[in-house]
Amino acid sequence: MSHNILILPGDGIGPEIIGEAVKVLNALKAEGSLDMELQFAKLGGSAYDAEGSPYPESTQKLAKASDAILLGAVGGPQYDNLDRPLRPERGLLGIRSHLELFGNLRPAVLYKELANASSLKPEIVSGLDIMIVRELTGGIYFGQPRGIETNEDGERFGYNTLVYKESEIERIGRVAFDIAMKRDKRLCSVDKANVLEASELWREVMERIAKEYPEVELSHMYVDNAAMQLVMKPKQFDVMVTTNMFGDILSDQASMLTGSIGMLPSASLNASKQGLYEPSHGSAPDIAGQNIANPLATILSAAMMLRYSLDQGELADRIEAAVQTVLANGLRTADIYEEGTTKVGTAEMGDAVIAALAK
Ligand code: NAD
Ligand code: IPM
Ligand code: MN
Repeated sequence: MSHNILILPGDGIGPEIIGEAVKVLNALKAEGSLDMELQFAKLGGSAYDAEGSPYPESTQKLAKASDAILLGAVGGPQYDNLDRPLRPERGLLGIRSHLELFGNLRPAVLYKELANASSLKPEIVSGLDIMIVRELTGGIYFGQPRGIETNEDGERFGYNTLVYKESEIERIGRVAFDIAMKRDKRLCSVDKANVLEASELWREVMERIAKEYPEVELSHMYVDNAAMQLVMKPKQFDVMVTTNMFGDILSDQASMLTGSIGMLPSASLNASKQGLYEPSHGSAPDIAGQNIANPLATILSAAMMLRYSLDQGELADRIEAAVQTVLANGLRTADIYEEGTTKVGTAEMGDAVIAALAK
């Protein structure tokens, strides 16, 4: 069966890093191991420039009809003053919500070759393998009401609503428990239940689901402590599950433990395992167009796509092994470069992964 994959290059470094992931997918197709058709569409600032909307109807249709979607990144300073509904980030939130991609998996895995690139001491991070499960279509990102208004004293106020329905907590909880079952069976739920009612409910629901998974050891941690524990003793974590905003912040933090934000892939899944795959980082406007961005998070996101949406776990394993080989061969983009290694550009890194795949 041919898989129908939609490619959304996006903005900034998006087209450069997505180009490398597409090269890897095409290499697998050329050797006959992957039956797929690629289509391309616009999301974010590039879509706004071309069609006046960050998530135009043409993209919506292709997205809905695809088996899986691979995205670069969206956003850029030239769009920051647009009306909020027109901004690139709203396009990204729009596609996540439209396809109900509530389950966001962000694996922070340290390749042993990068132990010295981590911002923490090698002994603290060696062997690190954390799966962060982030709720992606609810919470303060989407809660109503929201806005900026002026009160009766003439002072402006901005507000957002943090709200979670039990059903939303339950479904992300099940994703996290299911993943924990396939790993070390330890799940840490991160919340702020000492202050927030939404977190109180979150904790209660997690406890309830835990009864269905007696083998999984569930613990709870307040988010401020979790941020501290992540840099003090990160290997204590196996699977973490948390809300949309806490997961956004903690996953960027965890990425640095693995050497660079340029190493952290992600999968965003819905109930029918249709998925959007993207690096966890943004469009990095500061380095766009220079062939220096690290394409590995995007290439590893393509591997996650093969594993989670296309049922091609062996191909995913091969891509991950190829990334490891390239790192073992000493190739590094600027963000993970250290003395004694060889600095390469975005395209050269992609080529090296393909060469390692072929062996
Ligand atoms: P960012 O992740 O784009 O960049 C943060 C820092 O990390 C920058 O110094 C950047 O150069 C570096 N970096 C990021 N990816 C890299 C890579 N692959 N290789 C090497 N270095 C890399 O975050 P930001 O600067 O806060 O945001 C820039 C824009 O991206 C904003 O418009 C933001 O809204 C958007 N954004 C989009 C996504 C997404 O599309 N999923 C995610 C985060 C931010
Ligand atoms: C991410 C990004 C997005 C988020 C933004 C760009 C909407 O930071 O994918 O982590 O906050 O979810
Ligand atoms: Mn983020």
